[in-house]
Amino acid sequence: MSFYEITGGRPLSGTVAVQGAKNSVLPMMAAALLAPGVSVIHNCPDLTDVSAAMDILRLLGCSVTREGDTVTINAASPVPAPIPEQLSRELRSSVIFMGAMLSRMGTGELAYPGGCDLGPRPIDLHLSALRMLGADIREEQGTLRFGWSRWPRGREVCLALPSVGATENAMLAACGCPGVTTIVGAAREPEIVDLGRFLAAMGADIAGVGESTIVIRGGKALFPARYTVMGDRIAGATYLCAAAAAGGEIEVTGLRGEHLSALLAILEEAGCVVYTQGASICLRSDGLLEGVSPVRTGPYPAFPTDCQPLLMAALAGGNGSTIFVENMFDSRYRHVNELARMGADIRVDGRVAVVKGRGRLHGASVRGTDLRGTAALVIAALSAQGVSQVHDLRYIRRGYDGLERDLAALGAEIRIEP
Ligand code: UD1
Repeated sequence: MSFYEITGGRPLSGTVAVQGAKNSVLPMMAAALLAPGVSVIHNCPDLTDVSAAMDILRLLGCSVTREGDTVTINAASPVPAPIPEQLSRELRSSVIFMGAMLSRMGTGELAYPGGCDLGPRPIDLHLSALRMLGADIREEQGTLRFGWSRWPRGREVCLALPSVGATENAMLAACGCPGVTTIVGAAREPEIVDLGRFLAAMGADIAGVGESTIVIRGGKALFPARYTVMGDRIAGATYLCAAAAAGGEIEVTGLRGEHLSALLAILEEAGCVVYTQGASICLRSDGLLEGVSPVRTGPYPAFPTDCQPLLMAALAGGNGSTIFVENMFDSRYRHVNELARMGADIRVDGRVAVVKGRGRLHGASVRGTDLRGTAALVIAALSAQGVSQVHDLRYIRRGYDGLERDLAALGAEIRIEP
C-alpha cells in the first residue's frame, strides 16, 4: 500500500485552486437521474467516491463518461436495478439515490449505505422524510426496498435535526411529488444551496435553499442541465490549516470566504493574518499558533465538524491550550492517537478534547483513520520537525483530487512511496 513521505518544517507559499466540492457533486450526480437526457457537471473532482457514484448511475442504466473534470450523465431511460452492498458501502451518499430513484422511477432497492466510520451514522431521518412524502420502505436483511405506497403528494416534512443528507434526500424526492413540499428544519450548508441551484437549472420550482425552510413545488417535468460545481470548502480548509501550521503565505482560489467564516475567525485568533478577496482566501502565518477559545462543531454556519481534525492537527504543534467539543459525530477523535505518536498532547473525554500545544511536533509513522482524520495527519506532518510517513491513503482518495500535487506546488516536501 502506498504512503506519503513528508519532510516537515517547510513553509508553504503560492496559490492553489480548490477542486469542486465532493459534498455537492455526489447529490448532484443522483439528481441527474431526475431529468431524461444528458446532464453535464463541470468542476467534478476525480475521487473514488465520485467513481463509485458513476458506477451506481451505470448500474441504474445511465451512460456516464468523464473527460477531464467534466462528467456527462445520460439518464434517458434509467432502470430501478438493486444497488448492491459492494457499491452502497463504498460511500455514505449512496443513500441519496433513494430520493432520486423514488422521484424518477417510483421504486428501488439499496443495500445499507457505508461511508467513513465516525461512530453510528443512522439514516432514520432520511427514511422518515421519505415516508412522510408517501414512500413505503421495508428493511429486510440489510436491504432497503422502497416505492411509493400511495399516490405521492407534497406535504410538510419536519426534520428533527438539520441533517445534510436527509435534506438532500427530501429535496430530490419532493421534486417527484405533485403539490407543495415544505421541508422544515432543513440543513443550510452551502452544498445544499449548490444542489438547489442545480435542481433549479433543471427546471425545479424550489425556494428557500440556504434557509431552514425549503419549499418545492414538485411533479414538474425536469430537463437536463449543465452546471459547474462550487469549490470544496473543506479542501480549502485543509490548505489553510496546513499553511497556518507550517507557516508561510498562501492564496486559496475558487472559494468564498463566507463559507468558511467560522474557521477563518479561529485561525485569526490563533495568530494568522487572513483576508478574503472575491473568490479567494489569503492566509499568512509564522507557524507558531496560539491556543484559541473553545471550538464547538455544529450545523452550518457553526464550526464544521469536517474541519475539526484539520484545526486540531494545526493547533497541536502550536503553543497554548484549546478545548474542542464535537457535537456532530460520536467517534470523530480517532486521529488523536495518531497525532500523539507525533508528540501531540491531547486528552479526550467523550465529546470533549483538550489540546495542549507544546511547540513543534516531531515526525513519525502514522496511519489514517478516516478521510479528514488522514488529512489532519498530513497537516501535522507538514509542520512537524523531521520525516513522517502517513499510511492508508485510500481515505485521501475519497475526498482529495491531487492533494500531494497541490501541496508540493506550494513548496511542501511530500512524495508518494509506492
Ligand atoms: C454530511 C457530509 C459530511 C459532514 C456532515 C455534517 C456529505 C457527503 N457528507 O454528512 O462530510 O461531516 O454532513 O456536516 O455531504 N443523523 C441522524 N439520523 C439521520 C441522519 C443524520 O441522527 O438519519 C445525525 C448524524 O448521526 C449526525 C448529524 O445528524 O450526528 C448530522 O449528520 P448529517 O448532516 O446527516 O451528515 P451526512 O449527511 O451524513
